[in-house]
Amino acid sequence: MRIFVAKDYHDLSLEAAKVVADEIVQKPGIVLGLATGATPLAMYRELIRMHREEGLDFSQVITFNLDEYIGLPPANINSYRYYMFHNFFRHINIKLKNTHLPNAMAVDVDEACQEYEQQIAGVGGIDLQVLGIGQNGHIGFNEPGVDFALGTHRAQLDEATIADNARFFASRSDVPRYAISLGIKSIMQAKKILLLASGNSKARAIYELVHGAVSNATPATFLKLHHDVQLILDEPAAMHISRA
Ligand code: F6R
Repeated sequence: MRIFVAKDYHDLSLEAAKVVADEIVQKPGIVLGLATGATPLAMYRELIRMHREEGLDFSQVITFNLDEYIGLPPANINSYRYYMFHNFFRHINIKLKNTHLPNAMAVDVDEACQEYEQQIAGVGGIDLQVLGIGQNGHIGFNEPGVDFALGTHRAQLDEATIADNARFFASRSDVPRYAISLGIKSIMQAKKILLLASGNSKARAIYELVHGAVSNATPATFLKLHHDVQLILDEPAAMHISRA
């Protein structure tokens, strides 16, 4: 696991954008796995800047998001489809038909999960998966206690995650209880993984990821079994890890 510690969130975001942009330049038809949440926002902003000012080309890029809340239609401002369109896709030259999120309005959720896995397999798998991490060590919506053998599945949000994500909703009771999420198994199939963490609220989970044992008590620790993982942290998120 390679670890880069940036001084702050701004530098973390520039570094992350550089990693993603380099991969796109090397493989213009790259398949990117993308995350939502607060952490990647400034990375997306920097990638938009690179597109506008440096001509970074997304015309052949294919994306698959990690997760989507069950029951929120794409037009809902808290859906991840809305987030991705407004914070990223509409500002770059990506083809919207090449952007994918789980179909969280599907009548048959299991079928939608299988279809998503097939779509990913159909383009040869994810080349670079960008991840955030929850305070409880979740990745995607793989919460503590998750079965690591699951592929894309219907995930129940942990109470801690509901409390955490309530900041994006009018009230805590508005936070959906379920999402469709890539599973640990699907995330582990990505060729490369880039995990971003900012702020001291993530320091405990990062400590477990770097120094702890592999355990579904902290789902991110499964990444220790992946051969190509890079962490980009800021100083507060890195405060508990030993950097000897
Ligand atoms: C988002 C996702 C989540 C977030 C995590 C951190 O698509 O799957 O696992 O990455 O909850 O969220 P922030 O960045 O808001 O702290």
